[in-house]
Amino acid sequence: MCKTIKTIIITAYCVIFLHSLKYLIFDTKEKIIELNYLVRTSANFRKILKDIKKNRKNTTILTLDYERPRRFSSDLKFILKWNNAYIHRRSVITNGQKSFLYQNCTYYNCYLTNDKSLLVDLRCFDAIVFDVDCDWDEHPPLRTPYQIYIFSASESASNYPVCNSNYDNYYNISWTYKLDSDITKPLITILDKNENIIGPKANMTWIYPMLPTSETVKKKIMYKKKAAAWFISNCHSENSKARQILAEKLSKLLTKVNLTLDIYGWCGNMVCPRDRIEECLSLLRKEYFFYFAFEYSLSEDYVTSEILYPLLHYAVPIVYGGANYSRFLPPGSYIDARKLSPNEVVSLMVEAIKNPDIYKDYFKWHNHYTYKETPQDDICNLCQILNEPTHNRSVVSNFRKWWNPNYEEHC
Ligand SMILES: *[C@@H]1O[C@H](CO)[C@@H](O)[C@H](O)[C@H]1NC(C)=O
Ligand SMILES: *[C@@H]1O[C@H](CO)[C@@H](O)[C@H](O)[C@H]1NC(C)=O
Ligand SMILES: *[C@@H]1O[C@H](CO)[C@@H](O)[C@H](O)[C@H]1NC(C)=O
Ligand SMILES: *[C@@H]1O[C@H](CO)[C@@H](O)[C@H](O)[C@H]1NC(C)=O
Ligand SMILES: *[C@@H]1O[C@H](CO)[C@@H](O)[C@H](O)[C@H]1NC(C)=O
Ligand SMILES: *[C@@H]1O[C@H](CO)[C@@H](O)[C@H](O)[C@H]1NC(C)=O
Ligand SMILES: *[C@@H]1O[C@H](CO)[C@@H](O)[C@H](O)[C@H]1NC(C)=O
Repeated sequence: MCKTIKTIIITAYCVIFLHSLKYLIFDTKEKIIELNYLVRTSANFRKILKDIKKNRKNTTILTLDYERPRRFSSDLKFILKWNNAYIHRRSVITNGQKSFLYQNCTYYNCYLTNDKSLLVDLRCFDAIVFDVDCDWDEHPPLRTPYQIYIFSASESASNYPVCNSNYDNYYNISWTYKLDSDITKPLITILDKNENIIGPKANMTWIYPMLPTSETVKKKIMYKKKAAAWFISNCHSENSKARQILAEKLSKLLTKVNLTLDIYGWCGNMVCPRDRIEECLSLLRKEYFFYFAFEYSLSEDYVTSEILYPLLHYAVPIVYGGANYSRFLPPGSYIDARKLSPNEVVSLMVEAIKNPDIYKDYFKWHNHYTYKETPQDDICNLCQILNEPTHNRSVVSNFRKWWNPNYEEHC
């Protein structure tokens, strides 16, 4: 009796177990096949790589006879962050699929990793992202024509020129702050009043004419007394010499008309510690007519978030940089110190400081636009472009020149 019950129970267990196993196998069938290429890099492949590296010439070998692993159309697209660095130093982008899901991207079938041995072979990655700061020697020795090689950079082209000629005709996609990149990632974002992202863009068009400055904004700017401020932390480098010289020139001219440039920071006459930037910004908002938004590095389209100090704090930016600022700022909202002579800049400043009616017109844009820092975790575009194979990709034959027209001087 007892034995029979035992047998029944065991049989029942087995049936239930097998049954559930059946479903398990059924459900994961696709996953099991996927695992064929998710298997960790074999020691064997590592050995092959080593051999190639030892014997190879100075170019990447495009393996045309490589048989692409069979993939399901529903598969994830695997993106390898090659040298860990990634579009921005302060990046908060996490590995896996999370970033795409959390951003509610239209396409989220992408998977980010910096584990080079996640798949059987480096050639299995759909895309590989390289940071501008990557030695040629460290590049993968093998690639396939199916793979998308992505050039990413958030550092300025003049500080990080690309020098090795192997990079010409090498990348399939550029992902940088330059506005003619395949995926643009400017450091600042321009929104219209409906919160739609509208710029910056290479062929930016601005509302014309803009509405008169509102009473609310007029109230915020009517008690200003001091001419100009500049918050600067990095002053004695070669790169920034030109802007330093220009600032000194402008400062002298201002002194002549009884106005001052207050420089806050290590090399200035005023103190504004980094951890108390809020206090300085509040001073800027209350007291200063103008702010010197001088870029550290002069490269095309390189406008850093420092421009947001004046824009978000009701001061007028006096800009100096490598960008065509009409892609970034509405006409009549700034003074371009690279296009005008120092005397012209100062006379525009004096004119505005003496005439509230002229000064207030610099703020008309508030009626139509808002500015913010580009969110660093916004990577929907990356997954989108990998899902749109018809997108015209720019394999740039003269890549080094595209990235920095004066690269030869810097290499
Ligand atoms: C590759 O190296 C060879 C010498 O090993 C050199 O002659 C050639 O110019 C190099 N090619 C490139 C594209 O750097
Ligand atoms: C994504 O959508 C969810 C639900 O609609 C929302 O709570 C969340 O804030 C959105 N995230 C972003 C980054 O827009
Ligand atoms: C990527 O660029 C390489 C080198 O120019 C090219 O051979 C390859 O076909 C391109 N791949 C795609 C998917 O466009
Ligand atoms: C600057 O950009 C504007 C608008 O995008 C364009 O009309 C103008 O020609 C550009 N100027 C230069 C010098 O490239
Ligand atoms: C420039 O802007 C117009 C609309 O204003 C658009 O149709 C066109 O595609 C843009 N060109 C480029 C190169 O972005
Ligand atoms: C210069 O400005 C100060 C205060 O801002 C004022 O007291 C002084 O009279 C001015 N001097 C001239 C020559 O305008
Ligand atoms: C790609 O470029 C070709 C020719 O330059 C053009 O005809 C085509 O419409 C472009 N495709 C897309 C998706 O932009």
